Amino acid sequence: MIDRNAPVGVFDSGVGGLTVAREIMRQLPDERIIYFGDTARVPYGSKSKDTILRYSRQIIRFLRTKEVKAIVIACNTATALTLDIVAAESDIPIIGVINAGAKTAVESTRNGRIGVIGTEATIGSGTYTEVMKKMKPGIQLVEEGWLHDPVTDEIASRYLSVLKEKYIDTLVLGCTHYPLLRSTMRRLMGEEVTLVNPAYETAIELRGLLAERGMSRDPFAPFAGA
Ligand code: DGL
Repeated sequence: MIDRNAPVGVFDSGVGGLTVAREIMRQLPDERIIYFGDTARVPYGSKSKDTILRYSRQIIRFLRTKEVKAIVIACNTATALTLDIVAAESDIPIIGVINAGAKTAVESTRNGRIGVIGTEATIGSGTYTEVMKKMKPGIQLVEEGWLHDPVTDEIASRYLSVLKEKYIDTLVLGCTHYPLLRSTMRRLMGEEVTLVNPAYETAIELRGLLAERGMSRDPFAPFAGA
């Protein structure tokens, strides 16, 4: 029997996933979070599927020792390459960030042309395309894998100009670091392009999932150690 007052585990390859944790804290203020950032082994974006699967399983095992009631993979790369596998292996719910980002994007596009930026591994996996095409078959996707350079304005401008030329009207920030560059992206893409941060919709998905399973935390439950 899962304790509804147990914490939610959130993990990422590093600190970028804190953008997802922040959104969960904002939308689900009663929930407690245990965040794991794999800063010792970041980046994941240039690693193989086998390696990322091994890392994800290790982190999930660690979070289970903290008795979490659900897990959010707050990393696009780990979601793209491992969510299906680790969710099928788990007896507690595990969600990622891609469904959420894809859903927001297909709902907000008007011209059906969506851009996705993410790590090489995320884009190479084709997961965003697969998920979005299932949601809206006619969609046209323009995807860009970014190198894991520290992203400067110059790099952002180089990658984003390719997407601009394709007349996308919606851009998915498919890596947890990108929401931190939102103002740069806004300036480079212009006001008419909708920027989608999957973190927002992921928190909504988590809230729905916990409510549906009767697993939302009792707001009056004491914090452990309090
Ligand atoms: N956090 C990863 C993601 O969202 C990106 C950083 C990395 O390459 O590890 O895809």
